[in-house]
Amino acid sequence: MNEIRIFSPATVANVSCGFDSLGFALNAVGDEMVLKKTIEKGVKISSIKGADLSFEINKNAASVVALAMLNTTNADFGVDIQLLKKVKPGSGLGSSASSAAGAAFAVNELLDKPFSKLELTEFARIGEKIACGSPIADNVAAVIYGGFILVKSYKPLEIIKLPVPNELWVTVIHPQIEVKTEDARNVLKPTISIADAVAQSANLAGLISGLYTDDYQLISRSLIDVIAEPYRKKLIPLFDEVKTAGLQNGALGVGISGSGPSIFALCKGEGDAKNVAQAMREVYRNSTIDFHIYTSEINKEGVKIL
Ligand code: HSE
Repeated sequence: MNEIRIFSPATVANVSCGFDSLGFALNAVGDEMVLKKTIEKGVKISSIKGADLSFEINKNAASVVALAMLNTTNADFGVDIQLLKKVKPGSGLGSSASSAAGAAFAVNELLDKPFSKLELTEFARIGEKIACGSPIADNVAAVIYGGFILVKSYKPLEIIKLPVPNELWVTVIHPQIEVKTEDARNVLKPTISIADAVAQSANLAGLISGLYTDDYQLISRSLIDVIAEPYRKKLIPLFDEVKTAGLQNGALGVGISGSGPSIFALCKGEGDAKNVAQAMREVYRNSTIDFHIYTSEINKEGVKIL
């Protein structure tokens, strides 16, 4: 294979109760990337459309990952990358993860698949570190594995793929402001109380149990975040209003997507997801804030060849 075109999905990380440890991928939105082998060794970015990102190899989440993989394998070829970004940087929808994990997947194909999904997730974390200061795995693992994933441990990295109930849908509203992940991490408290740790871990256990048993009501009761949302929501205009509108119109739960500003609502079925989208849309329509809104099934496959 000399050239590959891929779809690399957007992701929702944290999913309220799983800070830095839960994530899932979306069907409705994702980047496209084309990677080509070149005779000249090393990595080149020949085009970036849809976002104002660096062409410098050491500063772009896709190219640092590609270079690390070529160096590790002593590849006898180089790679040219074209990025069509549909997942906007600073959206909370895993934009850097989409680039980083997309590059990991595509370079692995060009190399004839020497690496496992877990190893690809490790490589993709290099891109996350460049883009947002921390080698977070929740978004990149969701891109690579698809579906719902749990980062069970960071050292050593352990990823568990969780089941996705068939009727689970998501609505995401993306207000057109940028929140840098690094800034959203800086508003968090360095320590949490025992009461909050108990509440968060019990909700995480409840959510995972609900995913395994298709128990939508348990999923709903578990989508609570006492660690990040209380501090991060002030970075997101009309967060409380959007959350209330979603919950009053059938959402199982509403929370901040990744580090925001996007807000996600998990729903049972497409009908509820569309009703929730309509209710969320009304909140922003009555303001001066531009927004995009998506309703999507959970993407079960992850990054794929087009
Ligand atoms: N888990 C990370 C955070 C995701 O919330 O900071 C970043 O997109």
